[in-house]
Formats: sequence, structure tokens, C-alpha cells
Amino acid sequence: MSIVDRGSEAMMANYPPRPLAIVRGEGCWLWDENGTRYLDLVAGIAVVTLGHGHPAPVAALAAQSAVLDHVSNLYWSEPAIALAERLNSISGFEQAFFCNSGAEANEAAIKLARRHGHETGGVDKHELVCLEGAFHGRTLGALQATWSPPKKIPFEPLPAGFRHVPRNDIPALRAAVGPQTAGVLIEPIQGEGGVQVVDEAFLVAARELCDQHGALLLFDEVQTGIGRCGAWFAFQRTSVRPDAISLAKGLASGMPIGALLSRRLTTGFQPGDHGTTFGGSPPIAAAALATIGVVERDDLIGNAQRIGALLTTALTAVPGVAEVRGAGLLIAVELVAGDAAGVTVAMREQGVIVNAVSETALRLCPPLVITAEQAALAVEALRTVLVARA
Ligand SMILES: Cc1ncc(COP(=O)(O)O)c(C=O)c1O
Repeated sequence: MSIVDRGSEAMMANYPPRPLAIVRGEGCWLWDENGTRYLDLVAGIAVVTLGHGHPAPVAALAAQSAVLDHVSNLYWSEPAIALAERLNSISGFEQAFFCNSGAEANEAAIKLARRHGHETGGVDKHELVCLEGAFHGRTLGALQATWSPPKKIPFEPLPAGFRHVPRNDIPALRAAVGPQTAGVLIEPIQGEGGVQVVDEAFLVAARELCDQHGALLLFDEVQTGIGRCGAWFAFQRTSVRPDAISLAKGLASGMPIGALLSRRLTTGFQPGDHGTTFGGSPPIAAAALATIGVVERDDLIGNAQRIGALLTTALTAVPGVAEVRGAGLLIAVELVAGDAAGVTVAMREQGVIVNAVSETALRLCPPLVITAEQAALAVEALRTVLVARA
């Protein structure tokens, strides 16, 4: 039996069929079980910041595991503190909470807002205002904050107290935010929603409304954070400072981690309010610190800017491409003839892995170490595919 067949038999059917079994990765390259090599422009969906198998996080993980693996959150351990200090210093926030995934980081953000709301306005101040098109994860709170009805309906009833407004609709936002609002949760660039950049004017309005009503402005930077968009965090590309951001995906370049960073809040979590067994585990914290170190040492934020600009220019000139949008190395390619799923299959046959982020758009979110030559290969593969389909 192939790995694909064994997986379909032994694992739950919660994911759509997976066409490939990947057995090895190195840098921006992946190999399947038949030995075929692919250029990886998915990076585990914006996770493998440094490319596959980068020695820095691998060595940090192994070394820390040998010294101290896990102690629970009953005790302090130094790697998580060092990671919190590092993240606070690159983000301007003051306090961190660690968990294991993006959904968990957003659950923490939602709970932080509700804690703050209860503290400052009583139980009625509990609402979260979110955006249409949003994706915040699959746990029940994060799922309720997510927009997509088909992802939610089979699991209703979901938690009460969530409203959604159209992206960039400032009057709708103004109508939704009030004294009952505990927090406004926004992805500054909606990733799963199609790599849609939220207008700066909308973010400014959200900041003003949160200030006016004593609500927390929360940015979900699970997909956009850690250099991907050409800055450590996407909010740093704007004039707006949120009260907290959630992180995950690229933070430890492939190891599972989530984080919530916030300004120091007297109305925030109190002892016993929130927690998770594996959050801030020493080996994972060490891998995250190593990842941040390499992003800085190798100027991968500069690389994300340079290769992102290069890809955007080159992809825009490919016949059959209607629009290229995004920031840094989080890019959507809108196709004139649609069928992004079909184009994804054809790209794979050309040896390039991308994913369809909507029916009409591809998403490119390669490792931040991608070179100009590799980017050019990807552009040529798309040109070949779209010419063949014209
Ligand atoms: C913006 C955003 N938030 C949250 C999540 C959920 O993260 P996880 O799958 O680690 O729970 C994702 C995952 O795609 C995401 O893109």
C-alpha cells in the first residue's frame, strides 16, 4: 500500500483528499515518495520560515531537548522567558503567552478581550467584532470568529457574542462597535480569505473605535507574522498599533507553537485564568529563538521584500494573470480564467507546489530563504501552465 492509501485508511476524513506523500525536504525543495522533486511555494502554509531542515532550529531543538525537555507551567524555564523578551523587543509589546497553534493563540486573544471587557464594563461588555472573509482557526471560539458559513454550520451552536462586518466597510464597523464590544479582531492581511489586504483607513478607524469604547484591538498575525510580509509583523507596515497580536505558523519554522503578545494590561489575565500544558516548552521556545535569530542574521525580511517585489512584477506580466496582491512573500495570483485548483495540479506537474486560496486565485507563501533563481523558476512554470490552457 502507498502512503496515500494507508493515510486514507488509517486517518479521519477531515481533510480533502491529499494528492501527494512528501518524504523529504531541504530548503525550498520537497521530494515525494517516488523521488520526484518539487519547488515548495506553500512552505507548510507559511510555516517553514527558514526552509525545510534548516540547521539552526533543528540544532537548537536537539540541544535544548537534551538539557531540559519539559517542566510544565508550574515552574519557570529560561527559553520561554528569553523568547518572550525577544518577541517583546521586536514587536514593541510587553507580555507574552505561549501555546501550540494559531487557533489556540486566537482563543487566548478572545479570552483576553473578554477578561478585559468583564473587568472594565461587566459581563455585558463581551462582544467580539470580526470581519467577513476572516479565518481564525477551527476551535469553537476561533471558528465563531471565522467567517466561512460552511466551516461553521455543521458545528452549531457556536459561542454567542460575535459579529462580522464587511472588510474595509468603515460605516459598518462604526455601527458594530459600541460599549458592548470587548475586542475587534482583524487579520491585517486576510490569508485564507484570499490574501486580501485590509485598508489602512479601516485599521485606523478600528483603532479609534476601540479607544472610544474601551475595547481591545487584536490583530491575528498567525499567517502574516515573523517577516513574511516584509516586516517582522504586518501591523508594522501600517501606522496602527493593536493592543495584542496572535502568532503561530512561522514562529518556530516548522515546530508547533502559538503566541499572544500584548501590551501590559491591568485588566488582563489573572493567575488561573488561562493555560496549556505544552505552551512555552523549552525545546520549542529554543527553536523559535533560533528561527528569529536566523531571520535577523540573514536579513530574511529584506529577502521577503526583494523577492516579493520581484515575484509581483514578474507574475503580473504573465498572460492569464489578472492581478497580483499581498505583501512580501504572502502573495495571491488572481487568474483571468479561474480554475485555481486545476492550475495547482498543472503547476505540480511542472514541479512547483502552490495552493488555491480561492476558486480563482493561487497563493504563494514560500520559505523566506527563496532565491531569485527559484522565484524565476516558479514564474516560468506558471507561464507554461497558463499558455497551455489559453
Ligand atoms: C490568520 C490565521 N489565523 C489562525 C489560523 C489557525 O492556525 P492553526 O491552524 O495553527 O490553528 C490560521 C491558519 O491558517 C490563519 O491563517
